[in-house]
Amino acid sequence: MSNHATVTVSDTQDAINLTHVVKRFKKKRHEYSTALNSVSLQLRRGEVFGILGPNGSGKSTLVRVISTLIIPDGGDVRVFGLDVVQNPREVQRHINRVSVEASFFKKLSSMENLIYGAKLYGVTDRESKPMIKAILSDIGFDYKRVNEPMEHLSRGMQQKIALARALLTSPMLMLLDEPTTGLDPRSKKDVQRLVRKIHDEHDSSILLCTHDMDEAEELCDRIGIMVNGNIIALDTPQALKERYQQDGQLPSLEDAFMAATGQSMEEIETAELQRQENEKEKAGVS
Ligand SMILES: Nc1ncnc2c1ncn2[C@@H]1O[C@H](COP(=O)(O)OP(=O)(O)O)[C@@H](O)[C@H]1O
Ligand SMILES: [Mg+2]
Repeated sequence: MSNHATVTVSDTQDAINLTHVVKRFKKKRHEYSTALNSVSLQLRRGEVFGILGPNGSGKSTLVRVISTLIIPDGGDVRVFGLDVVQNPREVQRHINRVSVEASFFKKLSSMENLIYGAKLYGVTDRESKPMIKAILSDIGFDYKRVNEPMEHLSRGMQQKIALARALLTSPMLMLLDEPTTGLDPRSKKDVQRLVRKIHDEHDSSILLCTHDMDEAEELCDRIGIMVNGNIIALDTPQALKERYQQDGQLPSLEDAFMAATGQSMEEIETAELQRQENEKEKAGVS
């Protein structure tokens, strides 16, 4: 396809290479919280790699570091061999980020947003219009509504547009930050099918952050379990389950997660919410 980014990297290069990546956020004077604590991982070309972790574990921070939105405090971050701190522009050309809070011009239509999105990547209106039509029909978006303001559309429809926008530019690396969180079951399935299709047809490498066990298991070749800014286990879904099996019984991924972390996803999230509440209270008092 003509809109493929020109790449100056060899086919054997990993899509992502993280070595001991650290990111801290300042809370108060002399007080920091560590969002990423020495994270290392490799995402091979063409791989769908899942980061499975509860809210607050550091998934979005990881995506922001890789997509050059924030600068790491330590470690080495490479995308197709390019250092993200040294070559942010170059890196940006090869990636596309889709996040839960996808940003659109809400008063403009899906078509207008998509044309604009494609233009940012150097795709002209004339080229993008037929592509948009094809992609939207592919993903089961009701084309009659393509000229309605985006704020009139459901979350599920908006998320489809976010993925369509990513697809338009045929990115070599897609960073999907909770692409199905908050969607109804039907839209969730549609979006998951679309992710698989993007992967199969475009040979993209995909980093998928999720706290949905089934989604991770269904879509990902390998999964890194993330808790408190640490990747505590990293393997194929099958191997993760085998690692934590007892009495020859293969556990569910959920049970493997419990065995790996000592807690369920819900317990960790409840504790994190509690911690945030406490912090707010303390801040209010002092
Ligand atoms: N911009 C920020 N400023 C301060 N703290 C942040 C910021 N972004 C994230 N954090 C903190 O870093 C931790 C990880 O957050 P995040 O990466 O959003 O996790 P996740 O995406 O897994 O829910 C949380 O404790 C969060 O409060
Ligand atoms: Mg997040």
